Formats: sequence, C-alpha cells, structure tokens
Amino acid sequence: MNVKLSDGRLIPVEMHKVRIVQQTNLVPITRRVKAIDEAGYNTFLLPTRDVFLDMLTESGTNAMSDNQLAAMMVSDDAYAGSQSFYKLADAVKEILGFAHTMPVHQGRAAEHLLAKVFVKPGDVVLMNYHFTTTKAHFELAGATVLEIYTDEAMNTQSTDPFRGNLDLRKFADAIKKYGRDKIPFIRMEATTNLIGGQPFSLRNLLEVKKMAAAHNIPLVFDGSLISENAYFIKMREQGYADKSIREIIKEMMSVVDIFYLSARKSTSVRGGMIATNNKEYYDRLLDWLPVYEGFSTYGGMSTKEIEAMAVGLREMTDVNVAGISPEFIQYFVGRLLENGLPAVSPPGGLACHLDAKRFLPHLPQSVYPAGALAAAIYIASGVRSMERGTISMDRDAKGNEVYADLELARLAVPRRVYTLSQIEYTVDRLIWLYKHRNLVKGLKFVQEPKVLRFFFGRLQALDNWGADLAKAFEADFGPNF
Ligand code: F0G
Repeated sequence: MNVKLSDGRLIPVEMHKVRIVQQTNLVPITRRVKAIDEAGYNTFLLPTRDVFLDMLTESGTNAMSDNQLAAMMVSDDAYAGSQSFYKLADAVKEILGFAHTMPVHQGRAAEHLLAKVFVKPGDVVLMNYHFTTTKAHFELAGATVLEIYTDEAMNTQSTDPFRGNLDLRKFADAIKKYGRDKIPFIRMEATTNLIGGQPFSLRNLLEVKKMAAAHNIPLVFDGSLISENAYFIKMREQGYADKSIREIIKEMMSVVDIFYLSARKSTSVRGGMIATNNKEYYDRLLDWLPVYEGFSTYGGMSTKEIEAMAVGLREMTDVNVAGISPEFIQYFVGRLLENGLPAVSPPGGLACHLDAKRFLPHLPQSVYPAGALAAAIYIASGVRSMERGTISMDRDAKGNEVYADLELARLAVPRRVYTLSQIEYTVDRLIWLYKHRNLVKGLKFVQEPKVLRFFFGRLQALDNWGADLAKAFEADFGPNF
C-alpha cells in the first residue's frame, strides 16, 4: 500500500510480514566479473550462488503466502479425479467465471495447445504484443504473428497510462487485408511483458471484443499478469477507482472466449491453465492434453501447486497483493528517473525496465545494447536482470538479425521477495553504472542457438570491457563489494 510520509514522499509499505527467509550472498567484484564471463555474458547462465538479488524474472519466484503453503499440505495426489483439481475449478468459476478448467504445466504449454488446435499454416495471429514463447509456438505452427499496438507503445518516455492497448484501426485494417478465415483469434496480453509490463485499459478490451465479435473472431486472453493489469485499471482508468480488483477481473473476463495464463506470476505458483465457457473449444483442446501434458485433472502440474493455485487465484484479488509489485516498481522507477537514468515510464507491472538505447547510446543494436547492459548491471551490483531486446529475437529465415523494437534490461520485482533497502542498493549501483556507461562496449555471439537464442546463447565482451568496468568499480568500492 502506498503511504504518504510527513515530508510528502510516497513509499510502498508492505501489508504482510516475513516469516520464512532465504540467505542470499553478494560475491565480490573479482568473482562477479569471472562469473559473467563463465556464463557467456548471458545472465540466464549464471548460477544463483553468484547472484545477490535475482531480478531475472518474477516467474515462479514470487513469495507464496502461509495459506498457499498450508493448502499444499492437504493436496490429493491422484492421477485422475484429484480433489485438488476440483478446488481449482471452483476458484476459477468464482474468480474468473469459467465453467471449464484445464491445468497445464506452465504458460507456454497452454500456448502450445492453442497453436496445435487453432492455428494453421498461413494464418495471421493478431495481438497487442507478442511474448517470446507465444511467438515461437504460433510460428512453429506455420502462422505469422502480427502486433497491432498503438503508436505510443514504443515510446519509453510516455505518459500514456495504457501503452498495452491494441490499435483498433490497425485491427480493422488487418481484418480487411487478411480476411476472417486467416485470423484464428485475437490475443490480448495483460501487462504486455516485452513492452515493459504495460497494461491495457478495460475500455480498450471492450472495444477489441466488439470488433472481434462483429467478425466472429474469438478473443484469447493471456492473463499471466491479470491481477496487475486489474490494479492499473483501478488506479489509472476513469470510473474504476471504487471498483474492487475482483469486480474489474470479472468485467474483463466477461468478454473473453479463451483464457490462459502462466500461473507462475499473478497466482505465485508453478503451473499454468486454460479456461473457457465454450465446451467445443474445451473438447478440442482436451484431445491433445493427455498427449502433451497429462490427464485433465492435473495437466502436468503437481497437485500441491494446483492447491496453491486455487488459493492464489483468490488472494490475487486483494488490492494489497495485486498492487505490491507495481508499487515497488513505481518507487524503483521514480528513484532512477529522479537521478536522470533512462527508466521506462510509466512504470509497469512486472519489472523496472531500463532503456538500453538511451543508457548506452554509443552502442548500435548490432552489438546488443540490452544484453551488454544486463551483463554490466550484474558486474556492478551482483543483481541479475534479463535482456529483452535483439538477443531475445531470433534471426529471420535468411539468417539476418531482426532488430527488436525496444532494447530493454528488465529488473523484475518478484512479489513480496525484496525489501526497499535492497531496491535502494540496486538504485545506487545503477547510478554508479550510468556514470561509467562509456566503459561498456557491446557483445558478440560465440555460440548462437537457432530458436529462443537468449536462453542458451553464449557471448563475448567486445574489447574485454567487463574487466575495465570491474577495475573502475574496485577503484571506487574496494575489492569486497
Ligand atoms: N505469457 C506471458 C505474458 C509471459 O510473461 C510468459 C512467461 C508466458 C506467457 C509463458 O509462460 O513461462 O509459464 O511458460 N514469462 C516469463 C518471464 C518467462 O520471465 O517473463 P511460462
């Protein structure tokens, strides 16, 4: 909950207490520069023993609640007909309003099934923005992904509260150009991950539905960060300040044909799910569920996680649960902006994002500024962030680089995991890094996978800049931090 202090500052105050902790470790600068080199300058390849604050992602790393942990203890392990599944189905009905629930092992498994059942070669899948795994699955099914975002979406210094909105004019043009038969569905992603966790408005969603329904195009909703998007609607959209998160979620869901999510985010567990009121869609998906995931009452998830997900679905409708990460991110971004750093604004729903094109303006996209920035952040702080730029794009069919619209370094703020002093530490090291940004040169691939290369690709620092950055750091802070 944001609280105003007597000096006028706004700070996010945690509406929970910490009862279980995990030790973390800040390895010295000499180790950090070695560790990132061993990891091929790819933060995905760092072992957590070398990581101080893990801001790679909030996927599967949010702190669970006492009630979630308690629910895990009463899970019903059965291959078929588990009681845990029925508890989940009840929670889905209550919170989201869907009659049919299908657990899957995580979000991309839902995307795989949707691609398998609904997408055919030559199709064009429309969406407000892609996520890496979404694009990979739809393209593997032979389709093209077409993003129809607004002109403001790519402005990282925007004041538009809903940069995740879909552009309705482009939607109408796409229907005209490709024809309804080539468009299997339209996908709306709640707080568009790769645009910087930016939400869409309820008004935009309702308008998208109206146009989709007029052409009989199903609306697919990626609700991985549904509670955060609902929180932003409450905070930013006219007419919703007095509505509860539960009411806002219900209104969003009233226009959705197929819902899916990575349960690793808003519900703080490890799993995923598809839900719908359309029995025909459910049956078509169900055909493939046992082939790829498992029986309909567990879908590849542990029944413990299914229990925790039922609790998580209800808990995410508490404004203090839905809002805690956005409020920490708002504080984090505010502190960086106040010091002149190019943090993406307005603050989004899953992370504080730095605009690497503005942080490292001397680096062209061909040497991967966002990847270089993520590596430099690790060297300067021990904080692990994630590249969300050109390295996260794969080459086209001819082997050419596809430059990303945005070059972002993403510092995720897992729900209820880090404290404000840890955020302040990170801010301080980022300010230091910004002052020394000219030392950061680019990266080049030494090992480059063909698909989703950002996961396992290995890179090298051009001109060995990591060592120069570490030397400058040691001169200011000594060898131990
Ligand atoms: N959709 C969105 C919007 C996501 O953010 C993710 C995952 C997925 C689908 C895929 O779900 O990981 O459970 O298979 N995002 C993670 C992240 C990986 O770090 O942002 P998954």
